[in-house]
Amino acid sequence: MSEDPRLETRRLARASLDRDDPTGWFENLYSAAAEGAAVVPWDRGTANPLLTEWFEASEPDGTGKTAIVVGAGTGWDAELVADRGYQTTAFDISPTAVETALRNHPGSKAHYVVADLLDQPAEWRHAFDLVVEIYTVQALPISLQPTAVPKVGELVGPGGTLVVIASARTEGQPDAEVEGPPWPLTRATIESFASAPDLRLIEINESPSPSDPTATRWRAEFLRD
Ligand SMILES: C[S@@+](CC[C@H](N)C(=O)[O-])C[C@H]1O[C@@H](n2cnc3c(N)ncnc32)[C@H](O)[C@@H]1O
Repeated sequence: MSEDPRLETRRLARASLDRDDPTGWFENLYSAAAEGAAVVPWDRGTANPLLTEWFEASEPDGTGKTAIVVGAGTGWDAELVADRGYQTTAFDISPTAVETALRNHPGSKAHYVVADLLDQPAEWRHAFDLVVEIYTVQALPISLQPTAVPKVGELVGPGGTLVVIASARTEGQPDAEVEGPPWPLTRATIESFASAPDLRLIEINESPSPSDPTATRWRAEFLRD
């Protein structure tokens, strides 16, 4: 195993991108981690603090409502959402991520499934009262982000809320200079989650990253009429 898990992650990602397979490396990483040969760098063992903060401030009542967590990884955010009463679907493109989430959270109230954001089941369209997207779009190359962003928005049902949490790109940094993964999002990309006239940006915050004081993160909230 490489000393810095981010280096191993980059190596796997690079090999996958060189094969013109921008999402294949996630399964490679999760299966290497399941065998103890890698570490999943974003596996915090707890829900994202910005999501926890959003729940504390908004106090939504999930009873009788549905939620979906995009690129749910090892499931910590999905567990938080399910604990707030939402009937929660959590999906990831990596079968081993889904297996790991199920192993991490035995008896979970969330429903974990393997699915591709870019080719999602038709019945998910406009189906959820709450959609949570954390760090998935930024894990895709910049060229794929304009395709991925509206796919997230499509999940939001009438009257539903979308919460997006992402690393922020340094102001003015050109695409060519971003060496991903990840490929942090510009303010314009965050704003583009309002991908239909009835899906409106309600609030956008930029706050310092707890792991890197030189970096910042977005949390944005959208509402479908
Ligand atoms: C950087 S990780 C973030 C995981 C989790 N959201 C978190 O914040 O800890 C990105 C996740 O998105 C998943 N993913 C990437 N592309 C995807 C796609 N097209 N559809 C579904 N999941 C995807 C990856 O397998 C990975 O678990």
